[in-house]
Parts: sequence; C-alpha cells; structure tokens
Amino acid sequence: MSLKNTADRWGGISQLLHWTIAILILVMAYLGLTMGDLPNGPDKIKTYALHKSIGITILALVALRLLWRLYAGTPRPVPGSPRWQERIASLTHAAIYLLLFAIPLSGWVLNSAAGFPLRWFGLVNLPHIVGESHDLHELAEEAHELMFWMLALLVVAHAGAAFYHHIFQRDATLARMLPRGWLRTDDATDPAPTPSSSGTPAE
Ligand code: HEM
Repeated sequence: MSLKNTADRWGGISQLLHWTIAILILVMAYLGLTMGDLPNGPDKIKTYALHKSIGITILALVALRLLWRLYAGTPRPVPGSPRWQERIASLTHAAIYLLLFAIPLSGWVLNSAAGFPLRWFGLVNLPHIVGESHDLHELAEEAHELMFWMLALLVVAHAGAAFYHHIFQRDATLARMLPRGWLRTDDATDPAPTPSSSGTPAE
C-alpha cells in the first residue's frame, strides 16, 4: 500500500489518521457526555484528565492530517459524482476540520479560564492559554458543547454519505479510505485484489 495519496485513493498515512481521529472522537463523545454525571472522586478527576489529554491529542493529529494533506495532495473526485455533491462534500470536510480545531481549543480555553491544570497524559504540563475568568469559562463551555453537537450532525451526514455511496452507488468513495481489497465496489478504478494480482499491489 502506498503511504502517500494517489490520484485514485487515500494512502496509508491519511487512512491511519482518518480512522484514528474518527475512533478518538467517538471515545471523546462518550467521555464528554457521561463524565459530568460521575460521582465526585478520583475516578471523575481521572476521566476529566483523560478527556482533556485525548482532546489535545486530537488537536495535534488534526494539525498533522492537514499538513499531510497539503504535502501529499488529495485523490481526484470519484468518477461520476455530480458537481453539487462534490461541493457539498468539500464544504462538509472544511467544516469538520474547522470544528476539530475549534472544539479542543474551546476545551483548552474553558479549562484555562477555570484555572484547572492541564497535564497531557500526566507527562507534559501545558500552559493556560487565557487568564482565569468566570464569564469566559461559561462562554467557552457553551461553545464547546454547541460545536460538539454541530460536529455530531456533520459526522452523521458524512458517514451516511459514505455508506450511501458504497451501498447504492457501488462506487469507491468509502473503499478508497480503506486498505485495498477490504470492500468490493463496481468501480473499475478500485479493483479488489484477485488471487493472481494480490501479490503484486498496483501502488
Ligand atoms: C475533539 C475534541 C473534543 C471533543 C469531541 C469534546 C467533547 C466534549 C463533550 C461532548 C462534552 C460535554 C458537553 C456537555 O454536554 O456539556 C465536553 C465537555 C468538556 N470538555 Fe471536551 N471535547 C474535546 C476536547 C477537549 C479538550 C482539548 C479539553 C481541555 C483541554 C476539553 C475539556 C472539557 C471539559 C473541562 C468539559 C466539561 C465542561 C463542564 O461540564 O464544565 N475538551 N467535551
């Protein structure tokens, strides 16, 4: 498998970053939506600390993903996609990237404004990015939650579109974000390996 993106598919690095970030967002949604209800005590403190550490990790991974995308380029649109679908997909992707910066940053702001410490997995102390402020804490907390729900909506639409393309259009939209041969499609540009070709990957 090529590590770099090609004209037809996402390479190994983009795939790894995509699915790692996707799994971490699911973990973060679960932690974020349940940690407030935990009884006060060491477990709650540890869960908040884990939420914050994974959130900072997502911030770094999304920055890396954007830099890699700039360096490695993007595959061309899947053949046969109408122009309006390409435009909506690009806008959705841009909004997801924006939220994946804004959500962790608002979490960092709300944490700093409350004067709480931020230690990345107990290893590295990160600085406060704003001074202590009750009003700013409240505002950032509202923004953090609102933007999370916006992200949830966009992620559902994004994943729904990928499944729609795979199941009904039978094109390579989803398959090209997975290792070659994991999904079968009718797209001639994305053939699953046959017994005779499996030992000689095309990339
Ligand atoms: C992509 C990354 C992140 C996601 C998806 C996320 C998601 C969430 C969600 C869903 C909640 C619950 C909102 C609510 O119902 O009130 C929450 C709360 C919280 N998040 Fe995050 N978060 C992320 C990053 C961060 C980061 C980087 C920090 C801090 C450095 C952070 C700090 C907090 C705190 C302290 C709360 C509790 C707010 C409160 O109840 O006072 N989050 N987060």
